[in-house]
Amino acid sequence: MTLTVPCLFGLEGLLADELKRLGFAAVEAVDGRVNFTADNLAAAVARANINLRTGERVLIRLAEFKATTFEELFQGVKAIDWETYIPRGGAFPVTGRCVKSKLMSIPDCQKIIKKASATRLGEAYGITRMPEDGITYPVRFNIMSDTVRVYLDTSGAALHKRGYRPDTPVEAPLRETLAAAIVQLSRYRGRGTLIDAFCGSGTLAIEAALNARNIAPGQGRKYVGEAFHFLSRDVWQSERDNAKAREFTGDYHIIASDLDSAALANARANAERAGVADIIRFETADARTRDYPGDAIILANPPYGERLSTTSEAAKLYKALGEILRDKPLYLLTADLDFERDFGAKAKKRRKLYNGMLQCMLYMYF
Ligand SMILES: C[S@@+](CC[C@H](N)C(=O)[O-])C[C@H]1O[C@@H](n2cnc3c(N)ncnc32)[C@H](O)[C@@H]1O
Repeated sequence: MTLTVPCLFGLEGLLADELKRLGFAAVEAVDGRVNFTADNLAAAVARANINLRTGERVLIRLAEFKATTFEELFQGVKAIDWETYIPRGGAFPVTGRCVKSKLMSIPDCQKIIKKASATRLGEAYGITRMPEDGITYPVRFNIMSDTVRVYLDTSGAALHKRGYRPDTPVEAPLRETLAAAIVQLSRYRGRGTLIDAFCGSGTLAIEAALNARNIAPGQGRKYVGEAFHFLSRDVWQSERDNAKAREFTGDYHIIASDLDSAALANARANAERAGVADIIRFETADARTRDYPGDAIILANPPYGERLSTTSEAAKLYKALGEILRDKPLYLLTADLDFERDFGAKAKKRRKLYNGMLQCMLYMYF
């Protein structure tokens, strides 16, 4: 069985590494997603959902076929053995997207996929209308370059919704999966000091702490797949127990600092919800003047032109940071492509990343 994990563009390689570390086979990174195979479907679904740090959701791939007409789409979807997955009362909402294809109308494709799956299920159960009054089996489709992929979503809410950051609006938060990726790229594994110098809601510091302790990011949340009748329910608890047994304890030096004391209070509350507040020190400090210990790896997601301040203010901030951080290990994410000029030093490495739809650059100095 093939499973697919979509991810933010730029994170495919990191996500593929995570899947390999979790023991999965035939891991294949493609644009915006990673495929892998599993013999024990239920255990794989639970393990991937609970443990992945950089993936957005875990999908079971039901079909992949070419279609350039609605008839081909209908027949391809009707050929799926839907009755294996969706019981008589199951609700099956259909969502998806179309990219660079002949079939580009999302609502039309959605209707056809719904009709084709409902027709097949109706024939299998001997009814003309599916009642859809039971549990939900979310169906997702992706039509790209005339290739249709149909999936069953086992995650429900996206995996970046770890549950520690409530929906209250904070200034320009990083997506948790992107923060986890930046921690991976910084190679911080719990040794030495880590400073999130513009912590805002604390996402980088919290993801660093979860990673240092090897706490599975999805340990405390629920997944739609837990209710699927064709996946054994026991595997979820045993995968949670396995993840718990792999956690580390130790002495960690993680600092989250920000100018704004309200942001810090929010970051602390989030860290408490994530269960890592005891290993993060929260400090009100100006990143331009604060102390940086010699062994510190610095992560920074400063305010940038388009989102938080004017371009000239951002330039001034980067110049001041250059004066204090130029020779330090620094991983700084910004959407400002003039960053290096203002900072005054070329990065050793650069990586294009996306915070949701916003293109950013991670400037790496080490
Ligand atoms: C883009 S937000 C950081 C978002 C954060 N990564 C998150 O996930 O919530 C930038 C943060 O930098 C803080 N800030 C602005 N200027 C600062 C400075 N000179 N020193 C420290 N923090 C600063 C702001 O208060 C804001 O919380």
